[in-house]
Amino acid sequence: MLKQFPSLFPLLIIFFLHCATTFAQSPPPSGPTNITAILQKAGQFTTLIKLLKSTQLADQINTQLNNSNQGITVFAPTDNAFSNLRAGTLNSLTDQQKVQLVQFHVLPSFLSMSQFQTASNPLSTQAGNSNSGQFPLNVTTSGNQVNITTGVVSATVANTIYTDNQLAVYQVDKVLLPLELFKPASPSPAPTPLKPEKDDVPSASHAPAGSSADSSGAMGLIHYKVTLVTFGVAVIAALSLWL
Ligand SMILES: *[C@@H]1O[C@H](CO)[C@@H](O)[C@H](O)[C@H]1NC(C)=O
Ligand SMILES: *[C@@H]1O[C@H](CO)[C@@H](O)[C@H](O)[C@H]1NC(C)=O
Ligand SMILES: *[C@@H]1O[C@H](CO)[C@@H](O)[C@H](O)[C@H]1NC(C)=O
Ligand SMILES: *[C@@H]1O[C@H](CO)[C@@H](O)[C@H](O)[C@H]1NC(C)=O
Repeated sequence: MLKQFPSLFPLLIIFFLHCATTFAQSPPPSGPTNITAILQKAGQFTTLIKLLKSTQLADQINTQLNNSNQGITVFAPTDNAFSNLRAGTLNSLTDQQKVQLVQFHVLPSFLSMSQFQTASNPLSTQAGNSNSGQFPLNVTTSGNQVNITTGVVSATVANTIYTDNQLAVYQVDKVLLPLELFKPASPSPAPTPLKPEKDDVPSASHAPAGSSADSSGAMGLIHYKVTLVTFGVAVIAALSLWL
């Protein structure tokens, strides 16, 4: 049991630790900033990515990032946020309204977390007119906490997904519904139960393994690491028997 060569054991450990950390590091982003790639890497944004693609706003954001020095801020609702919408919410929108919904999540300038503290409400979004009743988006801050209100929903910035002084991507816990598209219903007695929107919103956490191309990268990495560890254990066991 490695008695003859006790010095081999720590060497083996160091070797496998080295391999594990090497493979665990993600490759640095190369080329122009790509909002889709950033969201894919972060995981749990498959619905937003789908919308960014179908509305062609992903390309537009990437082009703007390359051509402007104002920068861009994106509020990114998670898959969970989309699945908490009332059933059929997305399907009820026209293509043009879907564009507006996504544009409402994009600010035409870079804002760091601390800049939210001094931003003046309502903020303009790429959806346009921030007059009351249209596309106003307000932020309120307290310490490190940033909340967003639209007049329809109140959301919280949960996390900074990406920031490079040109592009900031913040995870939000709710889909930011603009007043223009979701005027609060006049008091109506019809109590529609809030059901998760199963029809048009896939939930990444419940998707069968391999069904989501967007999570295959992370799954691949985990698989790789598991394989690596298994391999390491096997080699150590074989060496111990042999010695
Ligand atoms: C951005 O990244 C996505 C996903 O990785 C890829 O499909 C797309 O081709 C990239 N776009 C550009 C302009 O590189
Ligand atoms: C970025 O901008 C430069 C200069 O304006 C242009 O040559 C290049 O093709 C652009 N790249 C992309 C991916 O749009
Ligand atoms: C943000 O929202 C949370 C939950 O709704 C609330 O508890 C908190 O006080 C709000 N903070 C600010 C700064 O508005
Ligand atoms: C947003 O802020 C403006 C200016 O303080 C205020 O007039 C407006 O009522 C606010 N709207 C919402 C939805 O909070």
